[in-house]
Amino acid sequence: MSKIQYFIESYGCQMNDHDSEKIAGMLQKMGYDRAKNKFDADIIIFNTCCVREHAELRVFGNVGALKKLKDENPELINAVCGCMMQQQEVAKKLFKRFPYVNIVFGTHCLDKLPDMITQARLGNRVISTEDGNEIIEGLPIIRQNKYQTSVTIMYGCDNYCTYCIVPYVRGHERSRDPENIIAEVEGLVKDGYKEITLLGQNVNSYNGRNGEVDFPKLLHMVADTGIERIRFMTSHPKDLSPKLIEAMASIDAVCNHIHLPVQSGSDRILSRMNRKYSSSDYLKLVSELRNAVKGIEITTDIIVGFPTETDEDFNDTLNIVKAAYFAAAYTFMYSPRAGTPAAKMAGQIPQNIKSERLKILNEYQASTLQNGNLKYIGTTGNVLVEGCDTRSECKQAFGKLSNFKMVYFPGDESLIGKTVNVEIISAKNNSLIGTEVKA
Ligand code: SAH
Ligand code: SF4
Ligand code: F3S
Repeated sequence: MSKIQYFIESYGCQMNDHDSEKIAGMLQKMGYDRAKNKFDADIIIFNTCCVREHAELRVFGNVGALKKLKDENPELINAVCGCMMQQQEVAKKLFKRFPYVNIVFGTHCLDKLPDMITQARLGNRVISTEDGNEIIEGLPIIRQNKYQTSVTIMYGCDNYCTYCIVPYVRGHERSRDPENIIAEVEGLVKDGYKEITLLGQNVNSYNGRNGEVDFPKLLHMVADTGIERIRFMTSHPKDLSPKLIEAMASIDAVCNHIHLPVQSGSDRILSRMNRKYSSSDYLKLVSELRNAVKGIEITTDIIVGFPTETDEDFNDTLNIVKAAYFAAAYTFMYSPRAGTPAAKMAGQIPQNIKSERLKILNEYQASTLQNGNLKYIGTTGNVLVEGCDTRSECKQAFGKLSNFKMVYFPGDESLIGKTVNVEIISAKNNSLIGTEVKA
């Protein structure tokens, strides 16, 4: 008999992707194999996200499409999990509406999946959305990538930004023990990994062993494992301490890039968002980072159309975009999330104004980058090669500099996973073109 095959689709952030790697680890341990596509699979798992409405609508559409597959193969087991399923009402609704979904479970019971599959194979439908706040250590992980990967250092979020659903579906902040993190990274170094991203909703509030190990200290400990590159996300501006900036500046392995979501440039909106910093606090951090960390590039997240946002508030956002000079900005229209304070605020902004502001913001952000990459021409830096574009006549290897800039240079598949010293010879607005510098 051929092995049971599974297929997992992730809809969310890096944390969500990483949970999918743990799900794959558990299924592989049960003796199952990864299917090449949905149509070959005996088990299909959708790992969902609910941070914006758009993410949820995609899930509903794709779950609906599972009916046909179930009709063709009544033995098929369909499971829906992740953040969207940690909202109890939504999970119940989905379970009721889609009888061909066998298993529904939230973010707090990942480790129960093997039992739930056993139940489903006996013909039972299972729903499990209890809250939980413990840290589950020791789950097997099948990592998608052989050179770069993620390591979760903390779970949950206590910030309660008024627009955000994450604290409700991911629970309170819990930090993993530093020993467990270090053991994991040591294992990765042994397996040949070059780059790790330390993950948390708010990594810089990491608080290991009840306060004994803070995030800067953890960075030093992780660097001591000998890992080549360390990235981390996401950082909250309110917790970006001088000690962290100092650690970024002094530890070679820590990349000179930070993702530092600003969300808005208007102090009135920032306060209504419960972000706990002002636009000038943010700009002060930007200048401290740029002074201390050589060549640092900063990326950000921005929301437009938060309740009551006026043209003047929006203009403040454009101004901070100009003043901070972001290498990239991930921009979103505010999406009301049931159960969050902002969803109930008066002064919701009409859709057409939100989309207009998003368009203006994206164009403005792109214009700030015009010719900004020219300064890299003639410089050299290490690129960790992620892939190879074989479409053009001359194969182009690509990967990122420490500062997160994407670089393309002539090179083939044999370079994937290697660190290559590259000289930048020309620049586009969103990437750099280089050539390998042979030692
Ligand atoms: N913990 C991280 C990531 C949160 S989700 C952080 O604090 O940055 C990623 C991004 O989604 C956020 O930074 C925010 O810009 C956006 N986001 C979150 N909730 C949203 C909502 N209701 N509507 C629109 N964008 C939202
Ligand atoms: Fe959401 Fe704010 Fe927590 Fe980020 S810090 S996950 S935006 S509540
Ligand atoms: Fe990530 Fe979406 Fe959950 S952004 S934490 S998968 S709500």
